[in-house]
Amino acid sequence: MGTILLVSGPNLNLLGDREPEIYGTTSLADLVEIARATAAAHGHDVEHVQANGEGALIDAIHGARGRCDAIVINPGAFTHYAYAIADALAAFSGPIIELHLSNTHRRDAWRHRSVVSPVATGVIMGFGANGYRLAIEAVAGCLTEGRS
Ligand code: DQA
Repeated sequence: MGTILLVSGPNLNLLGDREPEIYGTTSLADLVEIARATAAAHGHDVEHVQANGEGALIDAIHGARGRCDAIVINPGAFTHYAYAIADALAAFSGPIIELHLSNTHRRDAWRHRSVVSPVATGVIMGFGANGYRLAIEAVAGCLTEGRS
């Protein structure tokens, strides 16, 4: 049994309502429920934090050190430029999955770069709400195999 920290970045609190043609109509609460149900099937717990500010996200990542077994993070737009979030993740030992609802490579050029990918174990993007299930499955596999 492990604890997975699910981190949701800026504007993701508006999911369901926000640009549904890109992000779908599933609310963040429902995405968290998908993650929790998937984790439970593998005997794991999910803790969730959403924040619109970089500092609160960094504090949450620090709080996971030595306490949580893995991190799944959708950093929102911070993905593309927040070096301090990348540094905080680099200080976490355990698997880290970077997760996006949309395929950022099919979108604006400024979304093509991720400063988080170099410190992530892997990336799941472009599968909408299903990505939340896939990311937890990926984490469960890493935890079983002891891989980060
Ligand atoms: C996102 C992609 C980002 O480019 C964007 O800023 C978001 C959501 C996604 O889940 O597709 O806020 O991370």
